[in-house]
Amino acid sequence: MQKLEKLYEGKAKKLFATDDPDVLWVEYMNQATAGNGAKKAQISGKGSLNNRITAVIFDLLKARGVDSHFIKPVSETEQLVRRMDMFPLEIIMRNTAAGSFAKRYGVTEGTPLKQPILEFCVKDDALGDPFINNDGLLALDIVTEDELAEISAQARAVNAALLDIFSKIGIQLVDFKIEEGRDSQGHILLADEITPDTCRLWHIADDGQTVEHLDKDLFRRDLGDIIPAYEQILERLEQLAEVE
Ligand code: C5P
Repeated sequence: MQKLEKLYEGKAKKLFATDDPDVLWVEYMNQATAGNGAKKAQISGKGSLNNRITAVIFDLLKARGVDSHFIKPVSETEQLVRRMDMFPLEIIMRNTAAGSFAKRYGVTEGTPLKQPILEFCVKDDALGDPFINNDGLLALDIVTEDELAEISAQARAVNAALLDIFSKIGIQLVDFKIEEGRDSQGHILLADEITPDTCRLWHIADDGQTVEHLDKDLFRRDLGDIIPAYEQILERLEQLAEVE
């Protein structure tokens, strides 16, 4: 497989074409951003950690019947994925109140939710990725009714599988963002990445209360270095993958 021209550069990843039209070459960068790019830093080692973390998670999901665009890693910081026609959506699942949800509704962070919440945002940096409800998605023709049903079912299935994975490694999966697209055969599939950049992952101390953030909130909120936290997530996931 050959790495060809760069197709796209995002905030955390670069996408390259390959000699197979159905396969893309993804490079995970060391760049960290927050607040829609308002805060930016280069963090040595982040690209490699996220490349490895998302690969293990996609494999663990596959073992739970959740397919994704992931094919295989090709280097410390790179992986091959299926080429997808992406929906312009940020698909957010929440199990515990935190972040923008806690702020929007005046709920204390850490409040358990009676049931998971599925939220959609339109993926548009210029608009600041605004929230949109199901009627809005249909009225603006962003997705069809069938696509919305499929995407929603997949997001809930990803959440159930991720809850199982993270509970097995002693981590609370607070919330996360995924993206979906259609492959060349027209199948709707999980794509993009699942990493501590896109999930809130909490480790609860022995007192049952103190939260240790093992995700990008460390960077967003200036709480500390992300690298040891991401290393801890990778280590725990790799241990689980070994015994499964
Ligand atoms: O900020 P908010 O509470 O809406 O984020 C919900 C979840 O979605 C968090 O896990 C966050 O890391 C993720 N997210 C993301 N990319 C965005 C917005 C949110 O990965 N652009």
